[in-house]
Amino acid sequence: DAVKSRYEMWGGTQCSLKNSEQSNLYVTNMNICHQQIPDDWPGYRLDLFTYPKHYSGDLDCVYIPHGVIMDRTERLARDIKDDLGDQDIVVLCVLKGGHQFCADLVERIQVLNRNSKRSLLMTVDFIRLKSYLNDQSMPDLQMIGAESLSVLAGKNVLIVEAIVDTGKTLHTLLSHIQTFKPKLIKVASLLVKRVPNQSVCLPDYVGFEIPNLFVVGYALDYNEYFRDLNHICVMSEDGKQKYRL
Ligand code: HPA
Ligand code: MG
Repeated sequence: DAVKSRYEMWGGTQCSLKNSEQSNLYVTNMNICHQQIPDDWPGYRLDLFTYPKHYSGDLDCVYIPHGVIMDRTERLARDIKDDLGDQDIVVLCVLKGGHQFCADLVERIQVLNRNSKRSLLMTVDFIRLKSYLNDQSMPDLQMIGAESLSVLAGKNVLIVEAIVDTGKTLHTLLSHIQTFKPKLIKVASLLVKRVPNQSVCLPDYVGFEIPNLFVVGYALDYNEYFRDLNHICVMSEDGKQKYRL
């Protein structure tokens, strides 16, 4: 319950679409448990780690090192496998930002499957969403590849995202996926931002909750740059100017 009240403190309500005809579609996970990175977390000094030389001067700090992401992903894989047991799932990777987390998460679930008497059969599908320009969220959301989701009918779907902030994107995506009548929808996101008025929708599995700041790396971009950075980092003002559109 401590977890639950902490969760409510920052305004969250679990993933559910209020006026959905099948409101039991979104099985909520009240045991949600994730690392909350505090507002005053300074990150790590850049010279403690390695990163591509082409980004020197463009970053302020390493916010979440790659190794920590991988360790957390290993645990999320276990939680997902424990919850979904030996059911079949369709993993729906939200591109582009989600590709790295999705690949690493799926790999960790596969390792568990190889070492377990019960294994869950996975297939992977993709959808592409785009809503950001520079470091700002834009009002209209582009959805690409959303027509071919009829494979989701009657299936257990695990949506895999890199980041959820207002939850608006996730809400739109859930409404859309619901039209294909899956049996169950679960959502895993590596990051969730603590933003004001976040009430629409939150994931079932969260790697880290972070303050409301713009991060890049581990496939998260700023105008398509920084996807080729393995750590999650905070950009410098110089970096923002350099790649601004
Ligand atoms: N970084 C990159 N892409 C994003 C972010 C972010 O902080 N939030 C939403 N999309
Ligand atoms: Mg982006």
